[in-house]
Amino acid sequence: MKIAILSRGPGNYSTKRLKEVALARGHDVRVINHAECYVTVEKSRPVVRYRGEDLIDIDVIIPRIGQSITKYGTAMVRQFEMQGVYTTASSIAINRSRDKLRSVQILARADVGIPKTVFARETSDLDDVVEQAGGAPLIIKVARGTHGNGVVLAETRKAAQAVMQAFYVEGVNFLVQEFVAESAGEDIRAFVVGGRVVASMKRQSLDDDFRSNLHQGGEGSIVKLTDDERKTALKAAKAMGLSICGVDMMRSDRGPLVLEVNPSPGFGVEKVTGRDVAEKIIEHIEQNAKGIRRKDRIGA
Ligand SMILES: Nc1ncnc2c1ncn2[C@@H]1O[C@H](COP(=O)(O)OP(=O)(O)O)[C@@H](O)[C@H]1O
Ligand SMILES: [Mg+2]
Repeated sequence: MKIAILSRGPGNYSTKRLKEVALARGHDVRVINHAECYVTVEKSRPVVRYRGEDLIDIDVIIPRIGQSITKYGTAMVRQFEMQGVYTTASSIAINRSRDKLRSVQILARADVGIPKTVFARETSDLDDVVEQAGGAPLIIKVARGTHGNGVVLAETRKAAQAVMQAFYVEGVNFLVQEFVAESAGEDIRAFVVGGRVVASMKRQSLDDDFRSNLHQGGEGSIVKLTDDERKTALKAAKAMGLSICGVDMMRSDRGPLVLEVNPSPGFGVEKVTGRDVAEKIIEHIEQNAKGIRRKDRIGA
């Protein structure tokens, strides 16, 4: 098959691994920087262009779209979809998962455990918002943050209110969340491919940060998931319409609570677990790319 990896970092570990495995399995692979793609839209048959060439003979795309370029990147993914190209993550699913408000709504509807969450904007009754979220300490996070940037722990009601005020003065959408104290500084990443968890790791902050993101200095280690955690990860992936994703959960007294579902998860988990995630993805493509394309039924 002719596979295009949409990535802005050809030297990035995940991109290199996908390319290497796809080549080894006999596919034709290229890395395309989606930020450099453009589309000429006319009445019929628009096509994605890249470095002066029409991208017309691609069978499969693997979008590896960073948070900061979600909008443009998914517009390119949508263009490929309209050309009938198989994608490992649909444009609509990528967009949905990048919005934390939308994500918690979808996950809650699917009966997936999540930390108790309130979203508000300009309400004058901040006391009630704090109370609704379970009282301080509270987590406040911007709706489109990533890598732990934009996630704040407010230790007191006053601090929580000050952070909320700052966010809405700046016009930033945010959510207020119960602080899961039982496993502060720790979370679990389950890497899902085609209805199975193919690798998982625990991430732990190495200092007193409550955030376990590797980008904030967290470290990964091998973890064995409980049945409940595995089922929760798969349910979350299905609810978000992502057959390939990284589901982040926290262990709480009332079971696993999903924080987010990442549509372009990094492959750091390979280094931690020794599992070949790239191979699972290419196999998944081989088994599915020729099938009938399913329609998204979840909505924007
Ligand atoms: N409700 C919460 N309670 C305790 N810790 C949390 C909570 N939400 C997030 N965290 C911590 O902050 C980190 C970043 O939060 P997350 O929602 O995943 O945002 P990001 O998209 O920036 O990674 C998580 O990995 C976790 O360690
Ligand atoms: Mg996260």
